Amino acid sequence: MQTSPLKIGIILGSTRPGRVSPQVGAWIKEIADKRDDAVYEIVDIADFHLPFLGDPSGEQQRAAWSMKLSSLDGFVFVTPEYNHSITAVLKNALDLARTEWYNKAAGIVSYGSSGGTRATEHLRGILAEVQVADVRTHPALNLFTDFENYTVFKPSPLHIPHVNDMLNQVISWSTALKTVR
Ligand SMILES: Cc1cc2nc3c(=O)[nH]c(=O)nc-3n(C[C@H](O)[C@H](O)[C@H](O)COP(=O)(O)O)c2cc1C
Repeated sequence: MQTSPLKIGIILGSTRPGRVSPQVGAWIKEIADKRDDAVYEIVDIADFHLPFLGDPSGEQQRAAWSMKLSSLDGFVFVTPEYNHSITAVLKNALDLARTEWYNKAAGIVSYGSSGGTRATEHLRGILAEVQVADVRTHPALNLFTDFENYTVFKPSPLHIPHVNDMLNQVISWSTALKTVR
């Protein structure tokens, strides 16, 4: 039986002007595209112009977000650390959907002065509530050593095997969870 390939969304978790998340997302996609195990796509929250939860406007944008999430089997969250947590826009994007997240897997790639580890631990708690199974391996990028002037992304090649380990786990769990949806 022919099965359709897994679709994994690389979600950019920041939208501010001058953000570095597109550089990090493009690097993950480049590594992912060398594998032959899924279709990987960048999902930029900024493109969706999402309303803030509770704002009655933006129904179309919300529907487009819901449709995008529904089309995906798994995720890689690219998250910076803002005030020891994830960004408000990522939290809002998570809150704006519910069942679209259920029974899917995710990896987390974070960055910050301490690798974004505090943001990641917050994100793990949120993902549990929306029934997303987050995998163990977590590439953590450091603003001091993986970026030039905190703005130009120059990742250590030492992170590459770590990204692949994370993707192995995302693919394995996304494959398994597809059977329960
Ligand atoms: C509102 C705000 C709060 C921040 N708080 C933290 C923090 O708690 N810990 C940290 O390591 N970096 C913090 N930073 C620095 C960010 O990690 C850094 O600016 C990073 O580039 C932000 O990601 P972005 O460029 O994709 O928006 C903060 C930045 C902003 C804008």
